[in-house]
Amino acid sequence: MDERVVSSEVSNFDEQFEQSLRPQNLVQYIGQQKVKDNLKIFIEAARMREESLDHVLLYGPPGLGKTTLAAVIANEMNVQIRMTSGPAIERPGDLAAIVSSLEPGDVLFIDEIHRLPRAIEEVLYPAMEDFCLDIVVGKGPAARSVRLDLPPFTLVGATTRAGALSAPLRDRFGVLLRLEYYDELSLTEIVCRSAVLFDVNIDKIAAREIARRSRGTPRVANRLLKRVRDYAQVIGDGDITLEMAQAALELLQVDPLGLDHIDHKLISTMIERFRGGPVGLDTIAASIGEESMTIEDVYEPYLMQIGFIQRTPRGRLATTLAYEHFGYPLPSQT
Ligand SMILES: Nc1ncnc2c1ncn2[C@@H]1O[C@H](COP(=O)(O)OP(=O)(O)OP(=O)(O)O)[C@@H](O)[C@H]1O
Ligand SMILES: [Mg+2]
Repeated sequence: MDERVVSSEVSNFDEQFEQSLRPQNLVQYIGQQKVKDNLKIFIEAARMREESLDHVLLYGPPGLGKTTLAAVIANEMNVQIRMTSGPAIERPGDLAAIVSSLEPGDVLFIDEIHRLPRAIEEVLYPAMEDFCLDIVVGKGPAARSVRLDLPPFTLVGATTRAGALSAPLRDRFGVLLRLEYYDELSLTEIVCRSAVLFDVNIDKIAAREIARRSRGTPRVANRLLKRVRDYAQVIGDGDITLEMAQAALELLQVDPLGLDHIDHKLISTMIERFRGGPVGLDTIAASIGEESMTIEDVYEPYLMQIGFIQRTPRGRLATTLAYEHFGYPLPSQT
């Protein structure tokens, strides 16, 4: 998985440079127009009322800019951001320690909020609604509940699976924003912006070529750009032309749609062994030696987005588009 150059999940290798590429404010944040339009209004309104921003839930596939947007929100509100994640908060005390250190208006960012333990969720409700924490101190008969007042703060939660969030938690967010896969134009703009930050020359059509193969995902776009830059430096004079980009991407085995050997394996298994489906997720998983969850969360979303796989009540179905792209004769013709 970590070897996969088109993976939308963050790798150790990404972290070193992602930070430097992160947009700082809404103007630098490219694409996601609907999300930005909504946010602008909420932010403006909160500013005018001099109140903290309503709690925001960001959801969507990995690598689309949820963490980045949380930091942008804090910057736009001119407040500090505290970052943590669902699995990192194990005990109510962990949460208490974090929220009691917040300044009025601060943003508390909880990544992977769907992985927050249930017991913590319940402590979070009053914190979100009334800005107070009820914590139990002491043990046994001496135990008593203490109410802790908190400064008003904004919780920004991020999740790749909004469906995995409990309804009571979801309902406590005033603003729900869904990030979408980026279109080619926005991704091209992101590649060009990153090239400037990398201090490398890139032709617009080369940027577009990288964008097209980035699976609608800025993280992938930035990673591909970085690999293409390395290639151009070693093979050419460092400038990224279309030919240079194409040759590098060829070498990385990322096809013109951004698909790689894992996508190929998934689709070819469905077509060759299960006549294109419908076939159950668990059956596919067993056939290619992967976890069902990994297929569902990581491999499949983009293949569904581009219409190569369909989800039906009886299982997954490979579509005509998938047959054609991978050069299989259509089932009706065989
Ligand atoms: N709208 C954008 N404009 C420019 N660059 C972006 C944008 N969104 C994301 N990026 C870039 O993509 C990278 C990945 O974004 P980010 O880490 O915010 O994704 P994420 O949605 O939090 O992913 P995950 O689900 O894995 O946590 C960032 O380093 C940033 O440089
Ligand atoms: Mg993130």
